[in-house]
Amino acid sequence: MNTQQLKQIAAAMVAPGQGILAMDESHPTCNKRFEKLGIPTTEEKRREYRHMLLKEDGMGQYIGGAILFDETLRQTTLDGKPFAARLNEIGIVPGIKVDKGAKELALHPGEKVTEGLDGLRDRLSEYYELGARFAKWRAVITIGDDIPSRACLVANAHGLARYAALCQEADLVPIVEPEVLMDGTHTIERSYEVTHAAQQLVFEHLEEQGVVFEGMVLKPNMVVSGYECPQRADVRQVAEQTIRCLKSTVPPQVRGIAFLSGGQTDEEATEHLNAMNSLGEDMPWRLTFSYGRALQQAAMQAWNGDTNNIDQAAKVILHRARMNGAATNGEYSPEMENAA
Ligand code: 13P
Repeated sequence: MNTQQLKQIAAAMVAPGQGILAMDESHPTCNKRFEKLGIPTTEEKRREYRHMLLKEDGMGQYIGGAILFDETLRQTTLDGKPFAARLNEIGIVPGIKVDKGAKELALHPGEKVTEGLDGLRDRLSEYYELGARFAKWRAVITIGDDIPSRACLVANAHGLARYAALCQEADLVPIVEPEVLMDGTHTIERSYEVTHAAQQLVFEHLEEQGVVFEGMVLKPNMVVSGYECPQRADVRQVAEQTIRCLKSTVPPQVRGIAFLSGGQTDEEATEHLNAMNSLGEDMPWRLTFSYGRALQQAAMQAWNGDTNNIDQAAKVILHRARMNGAATNGEYSPEMENAA
């Protein structure tokens, strides 16, 4: 383990004014989004789409790291450059999703555990050879009447910690993602309670496995009311409760915290991040974004599977990246959307 390198990479992924682009949708997820728009679900279209996302050199100004899916790391852009080389060219650290998806947790109906530890050491060394310098593993926690169970929280925390240790051994910075889903009728208080429990266990397990906090990035959900909650908390409450939670669970050595968007609208995700960075709170870690949908959805619609739309769509994602870059400094305002 090269601790110095891990620290440097982690710092570059969450550099001031920058966040992470999650463009690591698995085939089923990517295809589902394509199908909704009537885009052919072929390898070639996925390649063209991801070429578009990285077409503007300016993306490197707002994006410090990009998470790829296995297929993309082995592909080239439409100009024939390996995607990892394209990322390096514009100053973005290449990363890779390494989990094998969330599967049903045995004896626990409605709950999931993420798979992918078997053979992971060998896959990580291949990914390093292919140019990846960080990795991602996502655990999924659902809020319901009697869930999550402790069994689900412990199984996922253990998996995340084993994964993170293997990454650091292979000189890859682990993004540790315990995602408490935002779907449901639950209140923000319930979201706080579950998110707090999940994060606390994750850090206990990370410590137990010897993971170096300076060389990792946490990717949490924001603490929000469930989408179907009759009375949803406002932006300020979300910002305050999320920071309160992180302050009580995340060790100060952790380099950065990069939120997932979890189905929020583009502007909602940007506003929440901006609000957290405007509270004037003293925070030991950098607070930024690692959005998938909230960075990509407008650009995917603008592209719509048509090669002629690549240039226009590439500007759409550049705009979203710029808005979120501003939010990492608490400098975003909705008027900036109209100015564009
Ligand atoms: P969303 O921002 O669309 O939630 O995706 C982030 C991600 O990478 C989930 O693992």
